[in-house]
Amino acid sequence: MGRAALASLVVALLSACNPDTVVHKVGWFSTMRHQRNIKPYARPIPPVAGTVPVTGEELPLTRETADKLVNPRTRTAESLNRGQWVFETYCLVCHGLKGEGNGPVSLTGGGPFPGIPSLVDPTRPKMTDGAIYGMVVEAQRMGRGLMPRYGDKIHGTDRWDVVNYVRSLQLNARGGGGKQ
Ligand code: HEC
Repeated sequence: MGRAALASLVVALLSACNPDTVVHKVGWFSTMRHQRNIKPYARPIPPVAGTVPVTGEELPLTRETADKLVNPRTRTAESLNRGQWVFETYCLVCHGLKGEGNGPVSLTGGGPFPGIPSLVDPTRPKMTDGAIYGMVVEAQRMGRGLMPRYGDKIHGTDRWDVVNYVRSLQLNARGGGGKQ
């Protein structure tokens, strides 16, 4: 075989196959592929303790810190519309359409769960926006542990929008008119 023919054969062989997929077929290369190592995604390694995401970390809420939070969302129609969607998605099932504590799973709404309070009963202690926010994010820590946690499901401005919507339900219940 002439030199030119050999060279073109080598080129043909090289371009025909991806070295990554054939290299392990060569005995002494295969040991590098099949060794005792962790394959990609085989075992996710948890971040080192104290690692903070680049987006920053939320401070754990307590009743005291929640109470002092300032609501950054103005009660605009946009905020209330979004809050209504959040409320009807996550809260209605227990607290009811108008927040009266009579959602379909609540005892007062014909369901199995007792102890779901009305959010619009003016005889209950008045809550600050921050305290309502605290219930939305960390109910387990804020209340008596009877309401599930929603901080892992409701994020960002949605949390304050639902606070605003609860406020508008309260105003409506008193005939004050909340959501226009
Ligand atoms: C699975 C039923 C359930 C769901 C869903 C639920 N809650 Fe609750 N909620 C409760 C119960 C039960 C309590 C009483 C909590 C306690 O005392 O620990 C409560 C208490 C509250 C309180 C305090 C009321 C007061 O006067 O003490 C607020 C505010 C509240 N919920 C808002 C919400 C909002 C907003 C949502 C939706 C993001 C929501 N809840 C979803 C069951 C629920």
